[in-house]
Amino acid sequence: MVVGGRRNTVCFLATFLSLFIMSLLLTNVEAFGYPSTVMPSVSWTNVVPTDFSFWESAGVRPILVNGSFVCGFHCKFEGTACLFAISIFPSSLDSNSSFSTQMVWSANRNKPIGLGAKLQFSQEGDLTLEDDHDTLVWSTNTIGKFVLGMKLTHQGNLILFDGNNKTVWQSFDHPTDCLVLGQRLVSGQKLKANMSSTDWTEGLYSFSINSSNGYFVASIGSNATLDYYQSYGSQRNKRSQFYAIFSDNKFGPFNFLRAGVSFIQLGSDGHLRYFSWVESEWKEVDDLFKDELNQCDYPLVCGEYGICSMGGGCNCPEPDENNIAHFKMINFDNPDLGCSPNVPISCESSSHESLLEIKHVSLSTSYLPDNSNITDIESCKQACLNNCSCKYVVFRSYNPMFGQSLCFFGSEALSFKREGDTYYNSFVFLKVQSSIVPNPQRNLSSPAHFPQTKKRQNVGVILAIILGATFIGFLIFTVFLLKIKKDPKDVEEDYLGHISGTPTRFSYEELKVATNNFSNKLGEGGFGCVFQGTLPCGAQIAVKCLDGFGPVKKSFIAEVETIGSIHHFNLVRLVGFCAEKSHMLLVYEYMCNGSLDQWIFCRDKALALGWQCRRKIILEIANGLAYLHGGCRQKIIHLDIKPQNILLDENFNAKVSDFGLSKLVGREQSQVVTTMRGTPGYMAPEWLNSVITEKVDVYSFGIVVLEILCGRKNVDRSLPEEDAHLVSLFKRKVEDGQFLDLVDKYNEEMQSNAVEVVEMMKVAAWCLQGEYAKRPSMSIMVKFLEGKMDDENEYDFSNPPPPPAEVETHGHQMDAAAITASPLIPSILSGPR
Ligand SMILES: *[C@@H]1O[C@H](CO)[C@@H](O)[C@H](O)[C@H]1NC(C)=O
Ligand SMILES: *[C@@H]1O[C@H](CO)[C@@H](O)[C@H](O)[C@H]1NC(C)=O
Ligand SMILES: *[C@@H]1O[C@H](CO)[C@@H](O)[C@H](O)[C@H]1NC(C)=O
Ligand SMILES: *[C@@H]1O[C@H](CO)[C@@H](O)[C@H](O)[C@H]1NC(C)=O
Ligand SMILES: *[C@@H]1O[C@H](CO)[C@@H](O)[C@H](O)[C@H]1NC(C)=O
Ligand SMILES: *[C@@H]1O[C@H](CO)[C@@H](O)[C@H](O)[C@H]1NC(C)=O
Ligand SMILES: *[C@@H]1O[C@H](CO)[C@@H](O)[C@H](O)[C@H]1NC(C)=O
Ligand SMILES: *[C@@H]1O[C@H](CO)[C@@H](O)[C@H](O)[C@H]1NC(C)=O
Ligand SMILES: *[C@@H]1O[C@H](CO)[C@@H](O)[C@H](O)[C@H]1NC(C)=O
Repeated sequence: MVVGGRRNTVCFLATFLSLFIMSLLLTNVEAFGYPSTVMPSVSWTNVVPTDFSFWESAGVRPILVNGSFVCGFHCKFEGTACLFAISIFPSSLDSNSSFSTQMVWSANRNKPIGLGAKLQFSQEGDLTLEDDHDTLVWSTNTIGKFVLGMKLTHQGNLILFDGNNKTVWQSFDHPTDCLVLGQRLVSGQKLKANMSSTDWTEGLYSFSINSSNGYFVASIGSNATLDYYQSYGSQRNKRSQFYAIFSDNKFGPFNFLRAGVSFIQLGSDGHLRYFSWVESEWKEVDDLFKDELNQCDYPLVCGEYGICSMGGGCNCPEPDENNIAHFKMINFDNPDLGCSPNVPISCESSSHESLLEIKHVSLSTSYLPDNSNITDIESCKQACLNNCSCKYVVFRSYNPMFGQSLCFFGSEALSFKREGDTYYNSFVFLKVQSSIVPNPQRNLSSPAHFPQTKKRQNVGVILAIILGATFIGFLIFTVFLLKIKKDPKDVEEDYLGHISGTPTRFSYEELKVATNNFSNKLGEGGFGCVFQGTLPCGAQIAVKCLDGFGPVKKSFIAEVETIGSIHHFNLVRLVGFCAEKSHMLLVYEYMCNGSLDQWIFCRDKALALGWQCRRKIILEIANGLAYLHGGCRQKIIHLDIKPQNILLDENFNAKVSDFGLSKLVGREQSQVVTTMRGTPGYMAPEWLNSVITEKVDVYSFGIVVLEILCGRKNVDRSLPEEDAHLVSLFKRKVEDGQFLDLVDKYNEEMQSNAVEVVEMMKVAAWCLQGEYAKRPSMSIMVKFLEGKMDDENEYDFSNPPPPPAEVETHGHQMDAAAITASPLIPSILSGPR
């Protein structure tokens, strides 16, 4: 009667009826007429029952029932994935329990069966499970062992017994991820966790007893390669009220509550937990590894390559010294899922592989086997580079004097944990790969592409040569065609040629295709519109169209080359460009979290950035600007720092965009520059006097910092006249010493960190001084934000940046206002560089 379309109704009915039945009838499950013992030959088919039973609502189709245990087909609600399994059904305890069945054993968790599958207890004494195509899924392999019957005991053990009532086979000998009261794990047996909370197949964690030394060990790895927990049985009794260690290295749950039902389960997160039925629900009574392991000691606590910090959640490995990030977070909303390499490691070209050292971390698991006799770090690293299956290497030197060391290669990526000082020197290196330019011709002629036999290989080589030649011919022909079609006026475009390291040159057509005919507009900047696109290789890009600047100039390409050569982690990277006739387009890496303004001005609590994130963003903007101002060959003044020009990548790393564009369009268009550059409200007061130094960026940075801290726009016309301008409001609040009033009101986390936020407001005040010479340079700002100022003997920073003592507003027509501070800053800071 349970038919797909009426499932909801049926479900409701099921719930209602079962409660009804249960309150009417007693809780003795025998009343439902299921036996606890059967004799062969008999079989059961997994079908939806014709008469309604409350079992069905619990997803169980019973075969044997005894006490609190039921054995039968257990189906997920759709009934498509079923297991032959045993569940605890705490029926004798209260009437709610049918909805809390807990599976404690299953026969076929790696191969679920569907409707029509058949369990057969044959005359030969074999218990077999076949799916609806009669394919054998599971069997007890007990043919010829004189099996006389099968019973489910009141402890939840399924037993096949012979004529002497001797046990031939029992489910207790084949545990899955649970141990119930009365069940003992002995050496040779293993608990194996589920893959995940939703994927119930056998996972990576296991728990067992080492027969040779009597240790209890928990391990990770498809081949149980690494232990993350080891404990000698008899030494442990701290938590023994929850489990007992029996003589002969047996381990099992202990009925400390002296009532009800309990079980121990190895979770898919590697924790071993004790559950008990308490007050009509399953309660986690204890975590059995708790005394020995902390949260970061579990091998995959932060997923692959994730770095666990105590109390600080999960992160990805930091970028290397060239600021190239090699790893990205798989899911920003769920950092526990770990990180993936930006470029997967392919063993083909080891010349592109290198080892990235990550400092102050160690592998999550501490029990590393010493299975190599390498004793120096360089050989250890080299050995990993030479071994394709090595994904990371851990080197420890315990006692250099005696050469005690450990070199461990990992073939399966795990989590790492932040670590302070250890008594040994520890190094962790991750294998990373730089991107490879694919070489289609080499690929084409590679013999590996063709079948192994010699004769066919020859044919393959010949074919490849022919194909290769055709391909080259085609290339030459295409180039020739392009050459003769070329408009002579465009000759300048060839200026760039193809120098490696420079941005890629795209044709207009290519970008048209990549952006799907410029259909997905991301935004509009001072220079033109920005569109989202995808390159054929799959890379996401943002394409900026520079419109209305007339024909492409030679200087354009030179400037593109300059901008394209600026690489910094906190600058949006220019990956390519297009210069064709009057089309000037810039191709940037795509930043999936958009611009900062969408995050700091938004009132949606779910989207609001917390204080730590905002502080990080402030530091990162400062980093990017400091690099533009002094870190690269050519000083670049941005001139248009505002939240719209700060972009956020998938990990909320801030990157400054749009730098260098004023130079792109050329000096002769300086009129364009002054009309388009600089956004009212963010422009420093000296703009009007045409004294343009990099300090104009520092001023704008100060405004952005203030906006980040206050969570409001610099100019907000929806507010009362006197509060509309953030800078004048800030000035007033500073005079009254009421910094606190300004902290983002819509964000609790900002409010609870108000003290630190106010400190940061002083930084903003420092940058907003009317006299540009008094503003700090960006590099000083970075040092200050990083808390490294004490190291600078040159400057006396025993006083933090002063809160502006005397503030005055200059009545500029634009919204620009200025703050002058008492000159506590040493004059050596002054003056543009
Ligand atoms: C069933 O559970 C509910 C809530 O979990 C509880 O309020 C109720 O008392 C339980 N019924 C019985 C008979 O225990
Ligand atoms: C339940 O199993 C026990 C053995 O553990 C057995 O003695 C008892 O008779 C069984 N109960 C029923 C109702 O079959
Ligand atoms: C096996 O147990 C059953 C009941 O538990 C009993 O009736 C029977 O006599 C026993 N058989 C032997 C050989 O002990
Ligand atoms: C593991 O999978 C079984 C089904 O095979 C399920 O009953 C059990 O609740 C799962 N355990 C965990 C910890 O998710
Ligand atoms: C068990 O312990 C012995 C001795 O410590 C060790 O050599 C062996 O590798 C361990 N076995 C397993 C499976 O961990
Ligand atoms: C685990 O071991 C089996 C054989 O023992 C091997 O076939 C398999 O590739 C190994 N898996 C990994 C991930 O090393
Ligand atoms: C360890 O060293 C010995 C000789 O010193 C050598 O024969 C053996 O191959 C080495 N083993 C490994 C795993 O490098
Ligand atoms: C490569 O490393 C794996 C483990 O990461 C190891 O099992 C294997 O023996 C190594 N191969 C060589 C040739 O050293
Ligand atoms: C090159 O070879 C690799 C594997 O050898 C293959 O995955 C890839 O598709 C090939 N590329 C081309 C363009 O044929």
